Amino acid sequence: MAKIVLGVTSSVSIYKACEVLRGFQKAGHEVQVILTPNAAKLVSPLLFNSLSGRRTIVELFDEDHPWSIAHVALAKEAALLVVAPATANIIAKFAAGVADDFLSTFYLAADAPVLIAPAMNEAMVLHPQTRDNMNRLRRRGVEFVEPAKGYLACGDEGWGRLAEPEVIVRRGLELLRRSLSLDGRTVLVSAGPTREYLDPVRFLSNRSSGKMGYEMAREALARGAKVVLVSGPTHEVPPARAELVPAETAADMKKELLKRFPKSDIVVMAAAVADFSFPGQSGRKIKKQALSGDLKIAPTPDILKALGERKKGQFLVGFAAETDDLEANAVKKIKAKRLDLIVANDVSGPGIGFDADENQALLIDAGGRVRGTPKMSKRELSRVIWDVIEASLGQRS
Ligand code: CTP
Repeated sequence: MAKIVLGVTSSVSIYKACEVLRGFQKAGHEVQVILTPNAAKLVSPLLFNSLSGRRTIVELFDEDHPWSIAHVALAKEAALLVVAPATANIIAKFAAGVADDFLSTFYLAADAPVLIAPAMNEAMVLHPQTRDNMNRLRRRGVEFVEPAKGYLACGDEGWGRLAEPEVIVRRGLELLRRSLSLDGRTVLVSAGPTREYLDPVRFLSNRSSGKMGYEMAREALARGAKVVLVSGPTHEVPPARAELVPAETAADMKKELLKRFPKSDIVVMAAAVADFSFPGQSGRKIKKQALSGDLKIAPTPDILKALGERKKGQFLVGFAAETDDLEANAVKKIKAKRLDLIVANDVSGPGIGFDADENQALLIDAGGRVRGTPKMSKRELSRVIWDVIEASLGQRS
């Protein structure tokens, strides 16, 4: 039994929220309702009290009930947040991070998966501002049950009708299952670039931002895995609950990954390891006059290859950054590094790959099956990659 938080906002379809609540209860879950103050003008919280068997939360500051800290306590317990019906206003508030009522404050405090079922007039749902807000939330991992076409409260026919309660419940239950799909597994993720120092000031590195690896770690956590994130230097905020292990050079990264490899079930090598380092690195800053035009470089260890050689049942995922012959080059890397899956991306395309928020990839497994993805946010791509990893693991067992 999980605790599901049902956010209910002020749409005429508010009565359907009762069926959504019932649907989750029938599936064996406990439901805590949060009504926005405007929704509480349409229906009494008492209705939801009696259906849920719990006191419905309306106000952020309530003299009789100290809800002001309850959003934090509830955020820790919640396994899923479903907002049905969701107005354009609550979607805009979530997208902008406005926290001026209990529901929007709870959204910011909670780490659980979020499902939103919008309900509004057609012009509002199709307004570019609403579409922008929805896309912004999608990029952060929020999922939507799109509104249907039909008769609307304003008397019009059109898009904006709340999806059927059973569709919302089914999708919510899927998200709940997915939030536990990696439960009990240890996932080791590497991310970001490495830096290979010439002296204390100068180094060789690459354009990696670490975003893809961080999103892979974030999504693994969202699916219930224990996550160790070995990270090169990045400006990304590490996901809460991941064990963060900083590693600056390829040699550091190799050491940290090899140490943790035997206890890992799945390894995602998203780091862009610098291919060369400077042998005989100086401990003192080299004066520029002393630097000749020809610097000696030596290859760094191929960490992924070393992991492939030591593989004992771990599922090994590599990444391939290519500008030419994407598929053929990626397939060669699967064989050379004994991978189970490779995520290949063309880093010559504008707006994708290195340091971009979006990516587009070919996912190729060891059996040669190739799946292409459209351009999407790195968060959404991480979900596609984890779905493929889980499907492959399912076929193994
Ligand atoms: N990799 C690694 N150690 C290295 C270089 C790469 O572990 N020294 C890993 C990367 O993390 C990635 C995969 O190998 O998961 C492929 O990296 P990529 O840079 O695409 O390929 P390389 O093996 O470096 O080959 P090339 O640069 O010739 O394409």
